[in-house]
Amino acid sequence: MHIIKTGEDRIVIVFPQLGFVLKVARFGFCILLQSFKRMRKSKSANRRKYFVVDIRSTCSAFHKALGENLRERKVWKNTKSIFLVPTWFSFFGLVNIMAYAKKVLTDDEYYGSDLLMQISYYSGFSWCVNLHAFENGSNFCIDEFGKVKMLDYGFKKSEEFIANWGQKLYDSIEPTGANTSKEFLDFKAKTGELRLQKIFEAKAWMQGNVDNTNRDAY
Ligand SMILES: Nc1ncnc2c1ncn2[C@@H]1O[C@H](COP(=O)(O)OP(=O)(O)O)[C@@H](O)[C@H]1O
Ligand SMILES: [Mg+2]
Repeated sequence: MHIIKTGEDRIVIVFPQLGFVLKVARFGFCILLQSFKRMRKSKSANRRKYFVVDIRSTCSAFHKALGENLRERKVWKNTKSIFLVPTWFSFFGLVNIMAYAKKVLTDDEYYGSDLLMQISYYSGFSWCVNLHAFENGSNFCIDEFGKVKMLDYGFKKSEEFIANWGQKLYDSIEPTGANTSKEFLDFKAKTGELRLQKIFEAKAWMQGNVDNTNRDAY
């Protein structure tokens, strides 16, 4: 098993025996190193330009990761939602301490069990406030009771989403995709294929809006 996992913005160090993980805000040392190498090779006129661009992108990625760590702690503290893996502590956003999740989902498990479809069904597409958080199966896990929980919830508007839908999602989602209620099957049939693209189209269709080119606005 890997002890260090890399996410989009954070590095996660896992301590299964101790029951916690450390989420470290990622600072792009590698990017900076490459940047210095590139600067050494480039003409002196370009050096300053490269340096400014690289420093900027490294800092903005770090800033994003800090924000996510701080938000994750705040969302857990304010909602204590059963749908979330608890974030016990944040050291100024640099490092978070979170409970260890034994069974993190893969994309195949997530989509194969209709989980995004179920989230759409139960939350009325509210998850569209953050596409990235919900399109990756590895942002979810299965808890000791066989229920689905979220472990990456530092996105903007997450507190509102979790406060509104956390309990319902935890209670209702069928982790094995065995939801065979007629309403769900109808919804699924209307929504079409399981993949994200189709869900956008279905949402646009449900809103009577056939022009779904501006997807990020959803
Ligand atoms: N509490 C946890 N228990 C076990 N693994 C975790 C936990 N939190 C995160 N991970 C692993 O680390 C990866 C990255 O964490 P994540 O919170 O998604 O960071 P990012 O916001 O950078 O994507 C996850 O996809 C998962 O595999
Ligand atoms: Mg993630």
